[in-house]
Amino acid sequence: MAGEKVVSFFQGDHKRLDALFVKFQENKKDSPAKARDFFREFKTGLERHILWEEDILFPIFEKVTGMQSGGPTTVMRHDHQEIKAALESVHECVLSEKFDSDNAEKTLLELLGAHNWKEEKILYPIIDNMTTEEDREQIFSKIKGLPEKKSSCCHLED
Ligand SMILES: [Fe+2]
Ligand SMILES: [Fe+2]
Repeated sequence: MAGEKVVSFFQGDHKRLDALFVKFQENKKDSPAKARDFFREFKTGLERHILWEEDILFPIFEKVTGMQSGGPTTVMRHDHQEIKAALESVHECVLSEKFDSDNAEKTLLELLGAHNWKEEKILYPIIDNMTTEEDREQIFSKIKGLPEKKSSCCHLED
């Protein structure tokens, strides 16, 4: 989309993922199969989102600022490791018969909440300031050029 900003695009994706997670939680009790579908879509989307950031977005910040390690993107990459571990904990619960993922969900939501806030309020606006509209068009076209990949999840294979 012409004139799209990093902050609006990525914040929009955070919101989309948050909504999928809510749908997963809402369906857990009465429609576990439906809940698993929502979880799978959430997991696929979150993994893609992290890939967009780590492989496409963060390298731009690192290149322009020369901050390869010890800067904000290092902190964000570290957050992603914790988020992925928490995501896997929820995933394991979703796979199990008991489906007892309340604690794991809480941990994941806390990590994501704090992480997304830092990105939306600090990192994305900085990247918007340091890039031109043309740079951003390149970012979004790279994102669109990445092949869709379903996450392996809940023993479902495509
Ligand atoms: Fe992130
Ligand atoms: Fe993000």
